[in-house]
Amino acid sequence: MDSSSSTPRAITGIVICCRPGFEKDAAAELTEYALIRGHAGYVTTTAESGFVVLNLDEECSFETINRNIRLAELIFARQLGFRFGTASHMPDDDRVSPIIELARCAPSRFSSITIETPDSDATKPLSGFCRRLSAPLGRAAEKANVLRPKRVHLPNLAILFIGQGKAFLGINSADNRSPWPSGIPRLRMPKDAPSRSTQKLAEAFVTLLSDTELEQRLRPGQRAVDLGAAPGGWTWQLAWRGLRVTAVDNGPMAASVMKTEMVTHVRADGFKWRPPSAVEWMVCDMVEQPSRIAALVADWVASGRCRHAIFNLKLPMKRRHEEIGRCRELIGQRFAKAALSYRLRLKQLYHDREEITGFLEAIR
Ligand SMILES: C[S@@+](CC[C@H](N)C(=O)[O-])C[C@H]1O[C@@H](n2cnc3c(N)ncnc32)[C@H](O)[C@@H]1O
Repeated sequence: MDSSSSTPRAITGIVICCRPGFEKDAAAELTEYALIRGHAGYVTTTAESGFVVLNLDEECSFETINRNIRLAELIFARQLGFRFGTASHMPDDDRVSPIIELARCAPSRFSSITIETPDSDATKPLSGFCRRLSAPLGRAAEKANVLRPKRVHLPNLAILFIGQGKAFLGINSADNRSPWPSGIPRLRMPKDAPSRSTQKLAEAFVTLLSDTELEQRLRPGQRAVDLGAAPGGWTWQLAWRGLRVTAVDNGPMAASVMKTEMVTHVRADGFKWRPPSAVEWMVCDMVEQPSRIAALVADWVASGRCRHAIFNLKLPMKRRHEEIGRCRELIGQRFAKAALSYRLRLKQLYHDREEITGFLEAIR
């Protein structure tokens, strides 16, 4: 365990969870992003572990780092916590005491506690044990005055178990962490949906947009276009939300999708097809070079063909970071040509594999 002291601890590291196998991408992105915001450090990570730690060269306050480092701006991070301590070699029969001892010296008191594990093969089996720890730890934390559930303005004590006896203790706030354990949304699979891919678009809506933003932008009765729609998981998600959808794909659409009577299937090339008039939403899941998709989506939004877009970028095996940079540049260039500002959000979703998902809209 870290040496215990009664002086409040500062933040010593940034801990993120990511998709196992993407630690290098997550580490490169985090290092560069943090450095630009004045937090230099070195990364420790292990392949397939599902987490990355940026050890800060200079300690800082929670308030400062929470302002500077935002989960929504990191593509490969699913969950985020600011580490103030590490509990190591915890005995099997008592993990509560070492955690409480460290948490007493945290830079803050807490209104809640989350206990999570990375999504790796090695740590997933710990999730049951984390659930069982929750009640006794909560009781002990309240008794030690570390946890004050009624003081809702206080942050969350974020505990990430990376082994039976080792956990990072961190802080995060409700507006800068994923509300789902380990950043993995638990979405219900509606029984009529034609394929599991419908969950990817469902996850994109709730991850890339806040509840309020979604309410303002996505309404029944709107019109949408789905480029590369077959067999229809994304189209079904839009129709289920009450949108009328033009599904563009040379391939066949599932019967369950067409049965909604909200869908018009157009057999055409998604790169060439244009809607007769502007629509609210365009979604695009065509498997193509990321730069071609980025240029197409930017053109739809910047020209006003659609107001909002959600799209997938299938990343190459290597040089993913560079490819994402190229896509950002292409989007920037198209909007500069239109003299428009824009909002672009990119994330590797839980339902994404070798791809990332984007949201784009013009700010008019
Ligand atoms: C990954 S699948 C889409 C899955 C769909 N989002 C779903 O939820 O069911 C990609 C689709 O893009 C289509 N596609 C690829 N290139 C296309 C193009 N140039 N024009 C139209 N569709 C295209 C393919 O036919 C394929 O059906």
